[in-house]
Amino acid sequence: MNDQVLAGAIAGASYIVAALLFIMSLAGLSRHESARGGVVYGIVGMIIALLATLWLMIADAWGQPGAVLGFILLVVAMAIGAAIGLWRAATVKMTGMPELIALFHSFVGAAAVLVGWNGALSVEGIAPNLLGIHRAEVFIGVFIGAVTFTGSIVAYLKLSAKISSRPLMLPGKNALNIGAIVVFIALTVWYVITPQLWLLVVVTVLALALGWHLVASIGGGDMPVVISMLNSYSGWAAAAAGFLLNNDLLIVTGALVGSSGAYLSYIMCKAMNRSFISVIAGGFGIEAPRKDGDEPAGEHHDTDAAAVAQLLTGASTVVITPGYGMAVAQAQYPVADLARRLRERGIDVKFGIHPVAGRLPGHMNVLLAEAKVPYDIVLEMDEINDDLAETDVVLVIGANDTVNPAAAEDPGSPIAGMPVLRVWEAAHVVVFKRSMASGYAGVANPLFYRDNTQMLFGDAKERVEDILHALAAVPAH
Ligand code: TAP
Repeated sequence: MNDQVLAGAIAGASYIVAALLFIMSLAGLSRHESARGGVVYGIVGMIIALLATLWLMIADAWGQPGAVLGFILLVVAMAIGAAIGLWRAATVKMTGMPELIALFHSFVGAAAVLVGWNGALSVEGIAPNLLGIHRAEVFIGVFIGAVTFTGSIVAYLKLSAKISSRPLMLPGKNALNIGAIVVFIALTVWYVITPQLWLLVVVTVLALALGWHLVASIGGGDMPVVISMLNSYSGWAAAAAGFLLNNDLLIVTGALVGSSGAYLSYIMCKAMNRSFISVIAGGFGIEAPRKDGDEPAGEHHDTDAAAVAQLLTGASTVVITPGYGMAVAQAQYPVADLARRLRERGIDVKFGIHPVAGRLPGHMNVLLAEAKVPYDIVLEMDEINDDLAETDVVLVIGANDTVNPAAAEDPGSPIAGMPVLRVWEAAHVVVFKRSMASGYAGVANPLFYRDNTQMLFGDAKERVEDILHALAAVPAH
């Protein structure tokens, strides 16, 4: 066996190990208890993949002109990328995670476009009978990559509130999207028959515009699905790049990301009662939301920490429903402490987690796990919703859209039909927030005006700490 064949065999075996580790990583990430292990598998798999690719490159190119320079450039690029990645991961706040992920997806899209263009410009070594397939791969890779690139940039801008999260409603938007797909198919056929570079320029511009339009057309309430959908697109873009680079691991990894992202989007659509097809087609069939300036009529009732402490000590069942405000306030530690203290008093405390609470899938679970809340008292929305009517006190900590009764009761509401935590069925509800402002979807919340709801205004962390102090003064029953 010569050196090159041996190097290829070692790299191939390493790729299989890396692919298995990625599958184990996905399996680990699907449960709280094994999520940390899942992340470790992913990191080890990626290190093996990078080392095997470097090894393969050295074995293939060693001795050829420019090989050393190519190797140095690759290592420098990896070092710069790793430094930026480490810095961003170390400094990002938990609340900034969704924007960061959206931005990372845009890099995958941009990389797929560059790989596609490179594939179009360097066709030497490809057997003439495979040239048609190669051209189709180039076109599809550039198209998916460019859609992912601009779609992710718009998602980043919306999530970081740099542009409005309202859906863009261009006249004939569905016809525009379908038209773009039809033109793409026609251009692909044309390019496969006569590969002219201007066709690639046209498809790149078309896909950039389509990606922008698809995500701009989706309203803030549907952004969770968009993030996982773009995650899926970035996987397919990577798989397309894998075909062009003839890299099996990139194909497998891209397919894993693409299919798991698609499945996550489907689960989230079900959780939000949205049509999967309508969301991936850029809001196809979704009407413009009603402007929600109409505040629900009525008075709200204020309360304070001492009164909430009294209310809690008299309760036998308490459910805590956290939302984005808990993440903003970083209130998870005092909230975990409160749950522990109440349980020590013999009160049954549970957490109810909405699938899209916060700003990224699993956001609340991550925060609660970080604060060491036992997993067995953290329940999904479907597991807890039927118990809420028998609950004495619900503490709504920085949640808003996910506990909005309008979703269940007002068919004209922009979030109508989205399943929510039915907290208003409990005997008492205490809402922790700083003002009467609406949540992410911009929809007014009638919960705040219900007779059994009390508002505890202020930063959630400070208010929970106040309750902890007040509790210390209330003797156990
Ligand atoms: P939201 O509806 O976003 O409401 C959060 C509430 O927290 C706000 O009304 C805010 O009111 C309050 N808040 C903010 N900072 C606070 C602080 N320091 N202390 C106390 N309260 C604070 O939250 P949610 O119920 O979690 O719903 C999530 C929303 O985000 C949904 O519409 C969902 O579709 C969307 N979304 C979710 C995701 C994923 S994947 N989870 C991704 C993108 C978007 P004040 O300003 O009055 O304090």
